[in-house]
Amino acid sequence: MKKLVVGNWKLHGSRAFNAELIQGLLAADLAATAPRADVAVCPPFVYLGEVVSALSGSAIGVGSQDVSAQAQGAFTGEVAAPMVRELGARYAIVGHSERRSYHGETDQVVADKAKAALAAGLIPIVCVGETLAERESGSTEAVVGRQLKAVIDLLGAQLVDIVVAYEPVWAIGTGKTASPEQAQAVHAFLRAQLVSAQAAAAGVPLLYGGSVKPDNAAQLFAQADINGGLIGGAALKAADFVAIARAA
Ligand code: PGA
Repeated sequence: MKKLVVGNWKLHGSRAFNAELIQGLLAADLAATAPRADVAVCPPFVYLGEVVSALSGSAIGVGSQDVSAQAQGAFTGEVAAPMVRELGARYAIVGHSERRSYHGETDQVVADKAKAALAAGLIPIVCVGETLAERESGSTEAVVGRQLKAVIDLLGAQLVDIVVAYEPVWAIGTGKTASPEQAQAVHAFLRAQLVSAQAAAAGVPLLYGGSVKPDNAAQLFAQADINGGLIGGAALKAADFVAIARAA
């Protein structure tokens, strides 16, 4: 399976910052120098159109960091999946742990968002992951299994069209990466859940996220069930993000 490397810019950027970062990414000619990876970046909503334009004609795709579960209506402040699609994005991250913890998004809301993204022609990147307390109490599989089940139950046959990102909350932005073996164990569990729901979901890309850096990416990507990465901090530095894409 081709690897997928996605940059999540989070709440970072400005027109000047984005232009410089994109210039660095384009200069790296990833189509030629990272041929085994599909690459995408997810800027804040307000920059989506500009980033799509700046990357047009390149091999780098664009995604949003969230979408509304609603397609339209009286939902002040929300951004709908069809709007994101219309601007030329291909992906939408849903259920990032920062959305779950700071914005109270439940498993059901995340599943609804994945469905809304699919309905608009976007590929949802569904994030799951356990906290440190959950890992230490031995409930990692119960937590990520529950998070994924909400999506499995809602999507039915469309399950084959999603991407799943395993992001242990304790590894996000902390500099603590799951070891390749720890990540692989959870990925194998997630793959088994997907396949038992639907045989064709064996092909769903499973990304790892949480302090992926140029010096640990290759080992993570070498694991059997790790099909790429969701990159936060290191996606803000062109040289680091390029090195991670090339590690694929
Ligand atoms: P990080 O973030 O790479 O900065 O740990 C990953 C993410 O939250 O997607």
